[in-house]
Amino acid sequence: MNPKYKELLGAAKAAAQNSYSPYSHFAVGSAVLCSNGEIYLGANIENASYSLTNCAERSALFNALSNGQKEISAIAVWTKRGGVFPCGACRQVILELAPKSDIIINDINGKILVLKLSDLLPFSFDKENLK
Ligand code: THU
Repeated sequence: MNPKYKELLGAAKAAAQNSYSPYSHFAVGSAVLCSNGEIYLGANIENASYSLTNCAERSALFNALSNGQKEISAIAVWTKRGGVFPCGACRQVILELAPKSDIIINDINGKILVLKLSDLLPFSFDKENLK
């Protein structure tokens, strides 16, 4: 495993502190590692109109792109409980913006899992299908 991934997960844990989750009380933090070495953070941001909630992974990805990043090499997701994988909507957004990235999760047993999007979203729909 890339030694940077432990640090990236630590950054995701710190990002969870900024979770705005008054409805679920389920804080999620994410940290995105860019090809130039910079790290961008995101947390889940909920809304009284529940479906407008933005997950931590999308917050972090949008933060990186909004700051001019073009190439993302890894996305870490941290929850207190562990073993939380990106939701379906986030998988689709990762496919769009960071398809080759490693996905780093803190597992329920304290271990670190490193996955590829192809593990999480096989048979996907992407821009190639629009040609
Ligand atoms: N959530 C995330 O931020 N990322 C995930 O991977 C799973 C779910 C958030 C959305 C919502 O604010 C809360 O967790 C409960 O679903």
